[in-house]
Amino acid sequence: MAVTQAPRVSQRGRDAPPSPVRKLMPLAAAAKARGTTVYHINIGQPDLATPEPILASIRSYSESVLPYAPSRGMPETLSAWSSYYAAVGYDIPTDELIVTTGGSEALAFAFMAVADPGDEILLFEPTYANYFGFAVGSAIETVAITLDPEDGFHLPASARIQDAITARTRAICISNPNNPTGTVYDRQELEELLEVAVRNDLFVISDETYRELVFDGLEHTSMLEFDSSEARDRVIIVDSVSKRFSATGARVGCLVSRNPAIMDAVGRFAQARLSAPTVEQLAVVPMLKDPLPYTSWLRSEYEGRRNAVYEHLLHADLACRKPSGAFYIMVTLPVEDCDDFAMWLLTDFDSNGETVMVAPGAGFYLTRSMGRQQARLAYVLNKQDLARAVDILGEALRQYPGGRA
Ligand SMILES: Cc1ncc(COP(=O)(O)O)c(C=O)c1O
Repeated sequence: MAVTQAPRVSQRGRDAPPSPVRKLMPLAAAAKARGTTVYHINIGQPDLATPEPILASIRSYSESVLPYAPSRGMPETLSAWSSYYAAVGYDIPTDELIVTTGGSEALAFAFMAVADPGDEILLFEPTYANYFGFAVGSAIETVAITLDPEDGFHLPASARIQDAITARTRAICISNPNNPTGTVYDRQELEELLEVAVRNDLFVISDETYRELVFDGLEHTSMLEFDSSEARDRVIIVDSVSKRFSATGARVGCLVSRNPAIMDAVGRFAQARLSAPTVEQLAVVPMLKDPLPYTSWLRSEYEGRRNAVYEHLLHADLACRKPSGAFYIMVTLPVEDCDDFAMWLLTDFDSNGETVMVAPGAGFYLTRSMGRQQARLAYVLNKQDLARAVDILGEALRQYPGGRA
């Protein structure tokens, strides 16, 4: 009998990039198994307690059957998302909303709804790395315009965006506030972006997962604020309870569009995956109906953490810019390759039995040569732990025997 080989994995299966945030997790697990404490500033997993109403609702679920939910979302959850948008200033009726399994699924649906295999989505790098993963999974090409740290990672002039658009471009995707840079885009740059999109007949996918986390008295401008018929047809909002309610494991997000054809397409994608989690959809209803008390507190908590981490980084002489939102900061490290350094932190280094895990910067870029000296830090720990994590980072950099920049 002929020797059989395992069937070949698809090209996109082979091309899917590892998450820069998660790929070193096995090394962190090994460090912990050796007894080392690891400060996780690599991932957007807040240390904050999930609000009690969410936990109480999950604990008290008492039905005898745990059923599928309707594909577009539980009626209670759709109506609660609508109340949430009213609370933050937008009129979104339930037929312009679909509840998804986290913002992640909303992203996957949005990409599939706007682009066919071989089409392009335009991004700005550094960018939320999973956009690459979703694009590869749908055989969609990504094109990235590199942003300038000197300019606070703000959006480039319209002409530069225009130059990157081809006959295959279908959408521009942004995260605002931005992961990984923490930049908050202002009304004018969003307006200009929308103008380019209208001129070129493109969709705008606006990922507003971190909407409430804007500091220094800034106001967040949602893409929902642009209300012309052209904006209404092309803006798609990706949203999530994960960060705003410190409930990443609930896996509840939503997609908003005022374009009936998009809602119809996404509704059919949603049918194919049956439903988002039933118990968690119900559990987040109270927070969605009355979000502001918690999110105002959350904003000031993260602003305090942002201030603390920024001051410690400056004190440690590490090059970074003060971010205005989300809970991330990009830092330039004096090493040749932050991937190697991040691995070394977990495999070969400890400071009194403690080390840190960071997300190497290169994974947030599409352009191969970019980001090798950068790391993204997530200030998702309390201020004391953040201070210790930055101290450890400074000590590690002094001891690092690898390549230096
Ligand atoms: C910018 C951005 N969008 C979307 C997501 C996905 O979040 P979730 O699927 O937990 O809602 C994240 C998570 O880190 C994110 O940072």
